[in-house]
Amino acid sequence: MAPASYDLVVVSNRLPVDVTVARDGSVSWDRSPGGLVTALEPVMTAEDGAWVGWSGAPGLELEPFDVDEMHLVPVTLSESELEDYYEGFSNDTLWPLYHDVIEPPTFHRQWWEVYRRVNQRFAEVAAQQVAPGGTVWVHDYQLQLVPRMLRELRPDVRIGFFNHIPFPPLELFAQLPWRTAVVEGLLGADLIGFQRQADAQNFVRVVRRLTDLNTRGQMITITDAHGRPARHVRAAAFPIAIDSKKFDELARTPEVQARAKEIRHELGDPEVVLLGVDRLDYTKGIRHRIKAFGELLEDGRLSVPHTTLVQVASPSRENVGAYQQLRDDVELLVGRINGDLGELGHPAVHYLHHSYPMEEMAALYLAADVMLVTALRDGMNLVAKEYVAARSDDQGTLVLSEFAGAADELTSAVLVNPHDIAGLKNAIVYAARIDSREARKRMRRLRRKVLDNDVAKWSEEFLAALAAVPGPGRNDEQENHD
Ligand code: G6P
Repeated sequence: MAPASYDLVVVSNRLPVDVTVARDGSVSWDRSPGGLVTALEPVMTAEDGAWVGWSGAPGLELEPFDVDEMHLVPVTLSESELEDYYEGFSNDTLWPLYHDVIEPPTFHRQWWEVYRRVNQRFAEVAAQQVAPGGTVWVHDYQLQLVPRMLRELRPDVRIGFFNHIPFPPLELFAQLPWRTAVVEGLLGADLIGFQRQADAQNFVRVVRRLTDLNTRGQMITITDAHGRPARHVRAAAFPIAIDSKKFDELARTPEVQARAKEIRHELGDPEVVLLGVDRLDYTKGIRHRIKAFGELLEDGRLSVPHTTLVQVASPSRENVGAYQQLRDDVELLVGRINGDLGELGHPAVHYLHHSYPMEEMAALYLAADVMLVTALRDGMNLVAKEYVAARSDDQGTLVLSEFAGAADELTSAVLVNPHDIAGLKNAIVYAARIDSREARKRMRRLRRKVLDNDVAKWSEEFLAALAAVPGPGRNDEQENHD
């Protein structure tokens, strides 16, 4: 591949498009509106940057191509690499380990070897794309070794890393057999961004315990072969945001407003519509939420058809065992509740195993009186922010888990501990019957937070902080080893 020269190169596991290969071998793509894509697209368009990532199809070799104003550079992953690197190490080792071991993580040496090999490939492709002295922004847990590998190839570039998921406490991270290599991989960056302060603090503590490096607050000093300070790494919180204005505007369109009314009508015009929207993932607390709702119906504190729960669960990581098990559990639970408590034409739970375009999501948000975000652990949870951004009518109530990163900012939501089923039930009833003035007061506060902090600001702040990290050769006499 001929060397290119982009001042900003973004590297993430997935490219911001879904590529489809037809039977005749022809390739087409659609924009994929995932959380990360939504977050980065505005920066990429503004900066005319390049994006390095996997196309989403196994074994597919594609030349770089342009979509809108983004230059996309596909990385090829074979079927067996996807099994070991993506389904295995990323989603069956790191994902559960970093989410409070809600499911037990699996440790396989073979998966680790392939994770390393694939990270090396991403680093090489990024090294070919970035201009001299340019910036590379690496994303998420699938690519934690890329910063160090890239620095070895291109010591001239600034490297940022952003972890979209939680960073676990030392006591859990220490289980990872390759823990030191992962920490060293991340420390190849100049700036490591996390969703919450607690994540950044967990990381700094891990650095102190697993390496000999000196740290001072958010700063870590990297030493050269003689033990002299060589450069600094900053670990800090940059809570990710959404394109809130776009969501707000979309939800104000007559089409979306009409669709919201239609949805309520299709649901049988219930008094209260509860809504859950998640990837079908065991971190999201879907089982806890449905169980709490089922018990409320059994107790008679809520009833069908006055109240209904719409649960959108978009298919995710379907080749990983824990996800298959979750799907079975959720579908069994929904079937039981509907069988026991639903009525003809009025199921208690409307369960939808699909993903929907943004317009339909905005309409669903507007149709929902109560949004239930009950994650057991979540880096941020952008659905919570989307719901708020859509509610320009200042109505609707957000029930939000304390264990979602969003709870650090969205303190005016009805905060819950999803493990406490009795407390969760009370919160759902409270939100379903909330006084409209109280609801409005809460939603106004939430909207100020969400509309003031949009994703353009998030990426600007991250990139400005990356540029400001003291570079090589700058000594810091005040550091200490704590
Ligand atoms: C989370 C991760 C992302 C990931 C997304 C979808 O938000 O932080 O890195 O892309 O889930 O998961 P998938 O495995 O389908 O890419």
